Amino acid sequence: MLPPILANLRIPVVASPMFIVSGPELVIAQCKAGIVGSFPALNAREKDGEPSMLEAWLTRITEELDRHNQANPDRPAAPFAVNQIVHRSNARLERDIEICHRHRVPIWITSLGARPEVNAAAHDCGGIALHDIINNAFARKAIEKGADGLIAVAAGAGGHAGPQSPFALIQEIREWFDGPLLLSGAIATGRAVLAAQVMGADLAYIGSPFIATEEANAQPDYKRMIVESGAMDIVTSSLFTGVSGNYLAPSIRNAGLDPDNLEKADASAMDFNSAKPKAWSQIWGCGQGIGAVHEVVPVGTMVDRLAAEYAEAKRAVAAM
Ligand SMILES: Cc1cc2nc3c(=O)[nH]c(=O)nc-3n(C[C@H](O)[C@H](O)[C@H](O)COP(=O)(O)O)c2cc1C
Repeated sequence: MLPPILANLRIPVVASPMFIVSGPELVIAQCKAGIVGSFPALNAREKDGEPSMLEAWLTRITEELDRHNQANPDRPAAPFAVNQIVHRSNARLERDIEICHRHRVPIWITSLGARPEVNAAAHDCGGIALHDIINNAFARKAIEKGADGLIAVAAGAGGHAGPQSPFALIQEIREWFDGPLLLSGAIATGRAVLAAQVMGADLAYIGSPFIATEEANAQPDYKRMIVESGAMDIVTSSLFTGVSGNYLAPSIRNAGLDPDNLEKADASAMDFNSAKPKAWSQIWGCGQGIGAVHEVVPVGTMVDRLAAEYAEAKRAVAAM
């Protein structure tokens, strides 16, 4: 059974948090379109001596969604989620948790580390915690540490993808876990959303296609490259962050490197406080599903397409 907060979405989709790309415009548009919108807390850049940008974003998102709900009681916005990078290099974690707790963030997404105190903070303010994992061992650990649900990041996902087939990953987790389970990795059509559910997931977790939307905080060239690229243009490399991730080969070429001959990197090099945004602002992260993206559109148009395809796929399956 899904927790009520995830049960009444227009379609079973959570838009995933993306470093740099996901800001308040994108999140608000996703929630208004009826799917969960999300952003990494670290995207709200903080400067010493200035008011907290994370606070400002949370206030803006909450107020705009409240206004939308009052004006549209028949089609209320979906809830939003904030992503916490639970990694030793994230010096802001404790403070960001305090801010999200105070703003009663409804859905917490944790990545790169499972810590009981983050889940406890989510629960204490009435929220739920979803943890992203790339294999069954990490999935067990996340639930032991108090996460409510799991995000299975399978092969082909944008950002730090896992190496496993979604079939293998979902099947192993579903042998012991009957709680909320999201699947990510190259899901870009309504038919693929239904396929994720048939496989055993409750919801699809979609990132890369939303880079090619008007509301995404991405350079026009990045959006265009998504539209023009397909699965063959995605390369997997650990060079840029120390952890294996998927990137657009043309962006690697544009940075003067050969995507077919990249060195390996050292995992201890990963540091979310350093000048690493370069890795994401010049070397563009992306999953393999983008062959389904043919133009840059407003988020509402993309979600309409997913919803229509999802309904059509259900009809087609019922007629089998
Ligand atoms: C550009 C980019 C940045 C990302 N940044 C983050 C991040 O900051 N935190 C996180 O948990 N996941 C991040 N991800 C991974 C996504 O949350 C999600 O797992 C992935 O996008 C799903 O696969 P898809 O892109 O094929 O839909 C990122 C993905 C992309 C493409």
